[in-house]
Amino acid sequence: MLVSKFINCRKEEIVFTNNATDSLNKIISGYFDDYLTEGDEILITKSEHASNVLPWFELKNKKKIKINYIPLNDNFEVEIANVEKNINNNTKVISLALTTNVIGDTRPIKEIISLAHKHNILVIVDGAQAISHNKIDLQDLDIDFFVFSAHKILGPTGLGILFAKKKYLDNIKPLIVGGGMNIDFNSQTKYEYSKTPYRLEAGTPNIASIISFGNIIEYLNKIDIYQLNNYVYSLREYAIKRLKEINNIIIHNENIKTNIIVFNYKGINAHTLAEYLNKNKICIRAGNHCAKMIKEVLNVKDTCRISLYFYNTKEEIDYLIEILKSVN
Ligand SMILES: Cc1ncc(COP(=O)(O)O)c(C=O)c1O
Repeated sequence: MLVSKFINCRKEEIVFTNNATDSLNKIISGYFDDYLTEGDEILITKSEHASNVLPWFELKNKKKIKINYIPLNDNFEVEIANVEKNINNNTKVISLALTTNVIGDTRPIKEIISLAHKHNILVIVDGAQAISHNKIDLQDLDIDFFVFSAHKILGPTGLGILFAKKKYLDNIKPLIVGGGMNIDFNSQTKYEYSKTPYRLEAGTPNIASIISFGNIIEYLNKIDIYQLNNYVYSLREYAIKRLKEINNIIIHNENIKTNIIVFNYKGINAHTLAEYLNKNKICIRAGNHCAKMIKEVLNVKDTCRISLYFYNTKEEIDYLIEILKSVN
């Protein structure tokens, strides 16, 4: 109930899963395996997370569907015109992160969904990164399928959310079967599964995480987390200004309105820099961030990512700059 209210849908449209990856797999293999036929086309981008890419690759091998990529603009963003240009009569699904985890761009999802629905195209929205910075109103956005992980919004690990409009949810076939999801079975191998959402929640649920996430949502409602975005954006602006004091820093996503800064330090491997910062008690992420196709447009294999949230401070940025200046 708390989760469905938080993202504005009905409680019977929410399934508890293990994480966003699990939710995407359940949707792609559990619904689109039956829905798609040979020759159908899927639209994604090269900045999608592995969990919104590999399940499609698997399905492509099985069903001879085609995967097309919406080209990104010079800032690595999706423009509605590029979505429109890449839709054709075979396009059946658009599957996009609302906010990406490497660039941090937020897609014009309402416009994309409205365009898609005019062409009878279903839309899957990966909200793993977006959930912590964007108020999600599933009714208003008219999203068909939506996923996120609790741990991306201060919650516990091991808990994912899968939303699908009731008419689609009822047609997701369970990929995992067993206890907690059936009504009856007998020795003549007759069996009957429960209604959704229970049908998709086989086995003992992650009770501790579900309860703890409920408490988190109550906390998030109290502090009105999305009101804190402006603070995070101003902190990012300050961080970028200070990072520019260091000649060797190359920032890849300066023009994006987001909480993350993706950068490289000229001549230093991203992992080596992250390790150095880590030794100084600064935690950043280095690597390809599970979005391995982005290197084809970014032309850098590994990057460093500073991820800011409302609990970060200007003093922490100053300390980061001091440590970065000590690199040589
Ligand atoms: C955009 C995006 N999608 C999906 C995921 C997968 O989330 P999880 O690892 O919780 O399944 C992530 C995780 O970082 C992500 O950033």
